[in-house]
Amino acid sequence: MNRYEGRRVLITGGGSGIGRATVHRILAEGGRVHAVDVSETGLKGTADQAAGHGHPPAVAGQGAAGRLTTAVLDISDENAVTDGVAAAVEALGGIDVLVNAAGILRSAHTHRTTLDLWNKVIGVNLTGTFLMIREALPALLAGDRPVVVNFSSTSASFAHPYMSAYAASKGGIQSMTHALAAEYSKQGLRFVSVAPGSIESGMTTGGGPGLPEDTDWSLFTKLAPALGQGFAGPETVAGVVAMLGSEDGAFITGTEIRIDGGTHY
Ligand SMILES: NC(=O)c1ccc[n+]([C@@H]2O[C@H](COP(=O)([O-])OP(=O)(O)OC[C@H]3O[C@@H](n4cnc5c(N)ncnc54)[C@H](O)[C@@H]3O)[C@@H](O)[C@H]2O)c1
Repeated sequence: MNRYEGRRVLITGGGSGIGRATVHRILAEGGRVHAVDVSETGLKGTADQAAGHGHPPAVAGQGAAGRLTTAVLDISDENAVTDGVAAAVEALGGIDVLVNAAGILRSAHTHRTTLDLWNKVIGVNLTGTFLMIREALPALLAGDRPVVVNFSSTSASFAHPYMSAYAASKGGIQSMTHALAAEYSKQGLRFVSVAPGSIESGMTTGGGPGLPEDTDWSLFTKLAPALGQGFAGPETVAGVVAMLGSEDGAFITGTEIRIDGGTHY
């Protein structure tokens, strides 16, 4: 499938997990990708894999590495986002698809959640996503069949204890996606959210959510996917993101797609 031939894609969080898997998937479908992340090491790993040197090497195919550029960017820093998106437009020659995969998960009892922790989670996940969209809008509106894919979470619609800041940030992304779809549909710009859950990544099976030591597991009513043997790989989400950013998703906007193996059906 070469749905991305000639398509210019900016992906945040491209240095790990689902963002990285999306970079490889879109490269494999012929796209040009500019991946940004706050982690330089993560981006190097992604680029090495695209060049066939990483562990495991990506299966993006011949010439994939030549269609990938990377840059360190903290999406919660307004000035850095202004400069970073301008650099992306220059590297790609425009933007047709923006994938906002960068995010952080921090957990704590809410009565022990400091304002710093709250602001950090909202600042990266919600404000960072807003800043990326705001700065990329002029390029997207000039782009070819443009799309923005945002990252919500099952936490936005289903109760996950100890994660009130994270849930609020992801609920905000979902609501913002609806508002943006209403505002820009007439100009042909689509906005969709994915709501993953139970996906292997740095955030889950890697560092993990850092749950409180005295976590009451009985509060987690739904943890196990109905499909498969446990958590799924990040490529399961990357395939859906690739569909949404392509013409296969041409009639989808202002909504969210849950990808959690049926954990929350
Ligand atoms: N893994 C899951 O089950 C799951 C569930 C629901 C939602 N999500 C969402 O999927 C997205 C991807 O996460 P993942 O699971 O692949 O985790 P991950 O930790 O593997 O990847 C997140 C990436 O975002 C980057 N990042 C963090 N802060 C940043 C910042 N300020 N600026 C730029 N980059 C930054 C990290 O360095 C990392 O490379 C996130 O938005 C996450 O909230 C994941």
